[in-house]
Amino acid sequence: MAQEDVFKKLVSHCKEYGYVFPSSEIYDGLSAVYDYGQYGVELKNNIKKYWWDSMVLLNDNIVGIDSAIFMHPTIWKASGHVDAFNDPLIDNKDSKKRYRADVLIEEHMAKFEEKISKEIEKAREKFGEAFDEKKFRETNPRVLANQIKIDELEARFSKAMNANDLAELRQIIIDNEIVCPVSGTRNWTEVRQFNLMFATEMGSTSEGASKVFLRPETAQGIFVNFLNVQKTGRMKIPFGIAQIGKAFRNEIVARQFIFRMKEFEQMEMQFFVQPGSELEWYGYWKEIRMKWFKALGFGDENYRFHDHTKLAHYANAATDIEYKFPFGFKEVEGIHSRTDFDLKQHQEYSGKKMQYFDPERGESYIPYVIETSIGVDRMFLHVISATHREEELKKEDGSSDTRVVMRLPSFLAPVKLAVMPLVKKDGLPEIAEKIVHELKFEFNCQYDDKDSIGRRYRRQDAIGTPYCITIDHQTAEDNTVTIRYRDSMEQERIQINQLKETISEKVNISSLLKKL
Ligand code: GAP
Repeated sequence: MAQEDVFKKLVSHCKEYGYVFPSSEIYDGLSAVYDYGQYGVELKNNIKKYWWDSMVLLNDNIVGIDSAIFMHPTIWKASGHVDAFNDPLIDNKDSKKRYRADVLIEEHMAKFEEKISKEIEKAREKFGEAFDEKKFRETNPRVLANQIKIDELEARFSKAMNANDLAELRQIIIDNEIVCPVSGTRNWTEVRQFNLMFATEMGSTSEGASKVFLRPETAQGIFVNFLNVQKTGRMKIPFGIAQIGKAFRNEIVARQFIFRMKEFEQMEMQFFVQPGSELEWYGYWKEIRMKWFKALGFGDENYRFHDHTKLAHYANAATDIEYKFPFGFKEVEGIHSRTDFDLKQHQEYSGKKMQYFDPERGESYIPYVIETSIGVDRMFLHVISATHREEELKKEDGSSDTRVVMRLPSFLAPVKLAVMPLVKKDGLPEIAEKIVHELKFEFNCQYDDKDSIGRRYRRQDAIGTPYCITIDHQTAEDNTVTIRYRDSMEQERIQINQLKETISEKVNISSLLKKL
């Protein structure tokens, strides 16, 4: 199946099974804004717990905060967001559609990458085991020609981006004959900068109102509280502050589902260190964060680092952790060595000292910062991309059937256990309800008595429920139930009084945290 179709199926599965809905759907939706449904919110909460516990629970020197979305407007001046948090935009005069000029160019480059991948896949099929990808890349004329195009375009594009040269960005689009995906024409406007922050007004009268921004990242809430936490928590460097919260960006996007949203959630941690030790800590956090992803068991080969060659003015090292989505390797998390830029700026703009007295060194200094920053929604998309499958099942009579299943790690699954009476009579529903009532204090259980047992299993597979138990007539006689495992679809009989222990152990986050 083409990757585009895989992605489309994923999006419709999310809607059909109560994971993600378009926002304001009955009014035809709101671009790049989404709501999470009854299962989506559970998965999202579980992702957040995995991150929070791995930061705050497992590290003595990391604490959490929850700062406000509204902040003093000068914060965004100090951080550089008012002047430099921009996207270069271009409009097509025929379709009237607006695009990010940099994205149009990146997508054009990706087409050459795709051509190279296709050549490689063809050759791999032809040569089988003997195929040497490295040698093929170095010698195949078609691959080399495409690679030269990518390198030349990349060099020109980076130069234009670094120099903030908007005219040159437009010229690259013209020279490469990039067309509007909607109108198919090359009738482009000039490129201009567009600030991504949403602004609103605070104050009761229009004269007295002042412009405030909806925060575009949670990080600044941590920086401005750095001394509050350090002093009240008697924190000693190195230490970290973690936060989960909403962020807002007026993104110009199309067809990316929850990958790029206007309202989204971030999980950010700022780690404060002695100046000069930052690159060592940067290496440490790169390793720790990659381990966090890999512990989920989605395949180590599906992750990679993308180290930045073009660094933001405040960073002395930066990387992205990328996951192989159905639409290619894309960033899920950023890890940045942000130097002392932010604290220094806040010291200058607020006039308040942002220094730490280091008892070991006997001196005061502004700490350096390593940041780990991941989007909850993007992690959500990563998890469902990695676990959503359409599987073909061979039946005993030789015919086949398909099932849609979400192979979610048990800890992340919205519902851990579905409890199903085989029939709605003979006292079986009462036994099932009693089991749900006892186990609901331990983990998320669902009572399900509608449709045939086969259809109920399929429904739970599609939601990602790892365990189903069936109450049948034998249950009334010997207190045993059938437990069915989602991934293997195997079934076995188990005593009711063993359920709590058996399932609690499997769905508990601690087994995941112990892998870190
Ligand atoms: N404080 C640093 C910072 O905000 P970023 O690379 O702009 O860095 C960090 O964002 C992460 O936040 C990204 O890796 C991504 O997972 C998530 N993110 C950023 N913009 C997003 C958007 N518009 N929609 C969904 N997630 C987004």
